[in-house]
Amino acid sequence: DEKTGRRVFDLRMQAGETEFRPGRKTPTWGFNGNYLGPTLRAKRGERVEVRVRNSLDEASTVHWHGMHLPARMDGGPHQMVEPGARWSPNWRIDQPAATLWYHPHPHGKTERHVQRGLAGMFLLDDENSERLALPKRYGVDDLPVVVQDVKFDGDRFDHGHGLMQNIGFLGDRTMVNGTLDPYRVVRDERVRLRLLNASTARTYDFGFADGREVALVGTDGGLLERPVAEDRVRLSPGERAEVVVRMRAGERAVLRGFPLDSGYGDAWQKRFAGGDDSFDVLQLRAARTLRPSPGVPAKLAGQELPDPADAVRERHFELKMSGINGRSMEMDRVDATVTRGTTEVWTVRNENGMPHNFHVHDVQFRVVSVNGARPPAALRGRKDTILVPSGTTMKIALRFDGGPEFADPDTPFMYHCHLLYHEDGGMMGQFVVV
Ligand code: C2O
Ligand code: CU
Ligand code: CU
Repeated sequence: DEKTGRRVFDLRMQAGETEFRPGRKTPTWGFNGNYLGPTLRAKRGERVEVRVRNSLDEASTVHWHGMHLPARMDGGPHQMVEPGARWSPNWRIDQPAATLWYHPHPHGKTERHVQRGLAGMFLLDDENSERLALPKRYGVDDLPVVVQDVKFDGDRFDHGHGLMQNIGFLGDRTMVNGTLDPYRVVRDERVRLRLLNASTARTYDFGFADGREVALVGTDGGLLERPVAEDRVRLSPGERAEVVVRMRAGERAVLRGFPLDSGYGDAWQKRFAGGDDSFDVLQLRAARTLRPSPGVPAKLAGQELPDPADAVRERHFELKMSGINGRSMEMDRVDATVTRGTTEVWTVRNENGMPHNFHVHDVQFRVVSVNGARPPAALRGRKDTILVPSGTTMKIALRFDGGPEFADPDTPFMYHCHLLYHEDGGMMGQFVVV
């Protein structure tokens, strides 16, 4: 916008139909289309404004998952947009380059709204990421990979939960970017995949079928300090990872979701949480000749991580399906008040006999320890969502930065389990920054 200098996006929530399978139309929801939404993109330092319009026949919200912004702009359950109404939050991008996303957050209905198709990516760039020799031609060698599991009942989606499936909905097929049986022709030696687990309950252990390693270069909140060679990348609902894959001319490489390792819990919870399932998620078809790509840089980005030594306050969160710290979410109860500009250490514990994860709005945090030990390399970067399997205690350090516009005693941010059935069922709490 020339007058305001803002980068403006228009997002319309609408209902429609999508032909996932030839000749069969499934009722779906989307942003500016029938299913999913456009990838939004902005650079650190820019002020963005999103003009949201709700053309659905029910109220919803749009939440900017992973974004550091004042609570009024967050799009949580307190910023409902009624049918026919508009909502235009604006904020300044003040965080490193990262793969973020957006999705609805109406209290008690988030699972349903996301399953119908309301989700999209929000990419952030900065000076460093624009200079860095990583694949960065969007849609060419830098690919969004939005992974969702789905199930069909005739023409419609089947969103039912199976018997005993108390972690929520598990589908029997997966889609990438709204496409069943997806493949992608690639013409470059190295391809960057921006993986987003936009499923509502399923955790994936991503890896290539032939066991090749990828370079993990980014997690939820941005690039890692250095690339980490991994053959598996585990993402629970809401988590993201950026990986660079090396291709060989003419080959077909299959990205798979493998059965989850023993870290996901005992045999019972593993089975009922879908941990035994395996899916081919995406096929990469390499052209017969590939353009050469530079090697992955040894140094990726400086790390803007909170220091647990600065913590002025500790808090404890016990995850149970019935609620966090024994309390089910209430819209008018604030569970924690944090002071702007301070660092806190939160201990998150799951002894509930089933997997949960934990997501915090507004901040990117640092994982300090997992069951008392130093976190694995994949958990050492900026995170906003972490898987907490049963029998696990994780300590995280969070810094609640921001200018005066971040102080708002009346508008809470959320922390919650991002298994959306649990979130909707009350596994959520609220904090204010003052
Ligand atoms: Cu991805 Cu509270 O949300
Ligand atoms: Cu969020
Ligand atoms: Cu949960």
